[in-house]
Amino acid sequence: MSIQERSNGHGQVFRYGGDFAEQRIARAEGSYIYDAEGREILDFTSGQMSGILGHGHPEIVAVVRETIARLDHLHSGFLSDPVVDFADALTAMLPDGLDRVLPLSTGGEANEAALRIAKTYTGGFEVVALDRSWHGVTGGAAATTYSGGRRGHGPTLPGILTLPTPHAYRSPFNRDGDYDWRAEFEFGWDMIDRQSTGQLAAVIVEPILSSGGIIELPKGYLAALRDKAHERGMLLILDEAQTGMGRTGDNFAFERDGVVPDILNLSKTLGAGLPLSATVTTAAIEQDCYDKDFLFYTTHAADPLPAAVGRKVVEIVLRDCLAERARALGDYLKSQLCDLQQRHPAIGDVRGRGLLLGVELVADRQSKTPAPDFGAAVGRRCLELGASLNIGRRSGALFRIAPPLTTTRDEIDRAVAIFDEALGDCAAA
Ligand SMILES: Cc1ncc(COP(=O)(O)O)c(C=O)c1O
Repeated sequence: MSIQERSNGHGQVFRYGGDFAEQRIARAEGSYIYDAEGREILDFTSGQMSGILGHGHPEIVAVVRETIARLDHLHSGFLSDPVVDFADALTAMLPDGLDRVLPLSTGGEANEAALRIAKTYTGGFEVVALDRSWHGVTGGAAATTYSGGRRGHGPTLPGILTLPTPHAYRSPFNRDGDYDWRAEFEFGWDMIDRQSTGQLAAVIVEPILSSGGIIELPKGYLAALRDKAHERGMLLILDEAQTGMGRTGDNFAFERDGVVPDILNLSKTLGAGLPLSATVTTAAIEQDCYDKDFLFYTTHAADPLPAAVGRKVVEIVLRDCLAERARALGDYLKSQLCDLQQRHPAIGDVRGRGLLLGVELVADRQSKTPAPDFGAAVGRRCLELGASLNIGRRSGALFRIAPPLTTTRDEIDRAVAIFDEALGDCAAA
């Protein structure tokens, strides 16, 4: 018996998040991944919600080849042209007030940096997060994460307070379709003010909560949040790990609301699948932290190779107008998913914007009882039929659909047809 067979197919690999998919992936190109038998599978999760340019984009491949041969990795005390150029290019696409870039590797790491910056700058330590958030699995990021992974590893950080997520589909403040998010918001802040020890430092939110169930913050919410934060001397941290770089139909999701955060975190989409993240803030906050001996020294901070990739991603997103493309293709995909909702009673809700969409499956539309087992079966059937759609069980039965921004209408039609067939097959089973 081979090692693979002895260990149910995962070999010597630690199962860090439940079971792996049955398919072993051998290769990836464009919007497709290929298993060992060469069977093509549409990758409508952009890898781990990151690969906005599809797999193996020729310009990214060229940058990696060229940079790794010339300037791969440095002591974190050195700066190099790729890093300075990346920071220039990124801040040039951002509004004034987001002018200093800390280049890191992962989303969790960027959130750690943002929390440390906010604490250093304000002198406080309390942080407000939404109660369906996902900010990562490292200490501070995990303490502000509520959509999963909280149990079994002891206490999280002190001083983390929650605000109810404005979830129109499931909020108790939604009475017969009339959702009063402002009442919920005020209720939440009253709770925070009563719990706080008077040392509030930051609010951290995703503009569209992704792992929590593709929940868009209502229009006006971010401005209200910024005002509540600033009234209390807190910084507003926006975690645009999944929403940044065009995904939602704007270059950054905060643009829809016209609210510039004090700290913007980018990751996943910034490296288009390669490990690159950035914590971006104002020159004044950066100067204050520097004056206070701020330290966030990591092995891969300001590494030239990922920075060169990030600069190329910025160039391609702007040059190829990928935000506009995401908006147009996203409108089309959403209309197709709404059509499916007409025909499949299991689809309770379709939501999201741009190419970050969610489809929630329910046992029945009246009770809105989540249908996680049915959802898992539909997800498996989609994979068998040739499409990888991300089914999240933590958020009930929510498909997160996020193809590369380079996808085409034909690929969307194909994915929707597979989803349609899988829903039908599983309902009949
Ligand atoms: C919004 C958001 N922030 C942060 C993270 C954590 O990023 P990473 O897994 O790169 O640490 C994720 C990962 O899913 C995320 O969705």
